[in-house]
Amino acid sequence: MGGWSYAGRWALVTGASAGIGEAFARALAGRGMHVALSARREDRLRELAEELRSAHSVETAVLPADLSGPGAASGLWSMATAGGRSMSLLVNNAGFGLRGEFTELPLDRQQEMLRLNCAVPMELMHLALAAGTTGIINVASIAGYQPVPTMAAYSASKAFLLTLSEAVAEEMRGTSTRIVTVNPGPVATEFQRVAGTSVTRRTLGLRTPEQVVGAALRTLEAGGGTVVPGLTNRLSAVVVRVAPRSLVLKVAKKMMKSFR
Ligand SMILES: NC(=O)c1ccc[n+]([C@@H]2O[C@H](COP(=O)([O-])OP(=O)(O)OC[C@H]3O[C@@H](n4cnc5c(N)ncnc54)[C@H](OP(=O)(O)O)[C@@H]3O)[C@@H](O)[C@H]2O)c1
Repeated sequence: MGGWSYAGRWALVTGASAGIGEAFARALAGRGMHVALSARREDRLRELAEELRSAHSVETAVLPADLSGPGAASGLWSMATAGGRSMSLLVNNAGFGLRGEFTELPLDRQQEMLRLNCAVPMELMHLALAAGTTGIINVASIAGYQPVPTMAAYSASKAFLLTLSEAVAEEMRGTSTRIVTVNPGPVATEFQRVAGTSVTRRTLGLRTPEQVVGAALRTLEAGGGTVVPGLTNRLSAVVVRVAPRSLVLKVAKKMMKSFR
C-alpha cells in the first residue's frame, strides 16, 4: 500500500487560487503531477498555472468556476475531464467559513456555504469515484469534531464532510482507492478575512498551508486515512470526543469569544 505515483498523472484541485489549495497545487506540481486548477479568480489561477508549468514542466488546466451554484460541481468535472483527460487525484478543498450568531448571519450566505462545503465535495467525490479516480483528499476541519457556537453552520458543514469522507473511505477499504480526510486546525490564509475570524502567530495549533498539505500527502502515500496536522490539534480532536458535550460547548463558546 506504500507510496503514491504522482508523476505524469492529473490532479484536480478546487480552491487553488489561495491558501491551502494553492499549496496543494504547488506541492503536487513539484512532485510531477499535471494540475487542473479551479476557483473563481481566474487571474490568480492563470498566474499560478504559468509559474507551475515553467518551474516543473507539468501540464496545467485553468478551470474558473463559482462552485456555489446549482450544477457547478458536475460542470467542473466535465471541464476537468474534457477530451478524455483522466483525473487520478481529486483535492476537495474549496470552502469558506462564517462567524457570527446563527440568527444574525444571512441565511442565504449560510446556505451557500453548505453547498460549497458539503454538496460540492460530495458530488465531485461521487463523480470521481465513478470515473475511476483512485485518490481523494477531502479538506474538512477540526471544527468538524465538535459544535462551535458562533460558527454553527460552518462546524456542522465540516462534521458532514468529515463523516462522509471517513465512511466512504471505510467502504473503499481493500480496494485500490485511497481517501484522505485532512482536518486542519487554524491556518493563516484568506479564510480568516472571509470568515470574520483572526489568528496570530501565537494562536494555539497554528500550522502553515505547507504543513497541512505535507501531512495530507504523507497520509495519501501511506494508503489513506484521517489526519489532523499538529500535535495540539490532534490532542484537541481527541479531548472533544471524550469530554462531556455540555463542557465542550461551554469551552468552545468561551474560546470563540476570546477571538476578535
Ligand atoms: N484556514 C483555516 O484556518 C482552515 C482550518 C480548517 C479547515 N480549513 C478549510 O480549508 C479549505 C481551504 O481554506 P483556506 O484556509 O485555504 O481558505 P482561503 O485562503 O480563503 O481559500 C479558499 C479557496 O476556496 C475558493 N472558493 C471560495 N468560494 C468559492 C466558490 N464559491 N467557488 C469556487 N471556489 C471558491 C477560493 O477561491 P476564489 O475566491 O478565487 O473563488 C480559494 O481558492 C476550506 O475548505 C476551509 O474550510 C481552513
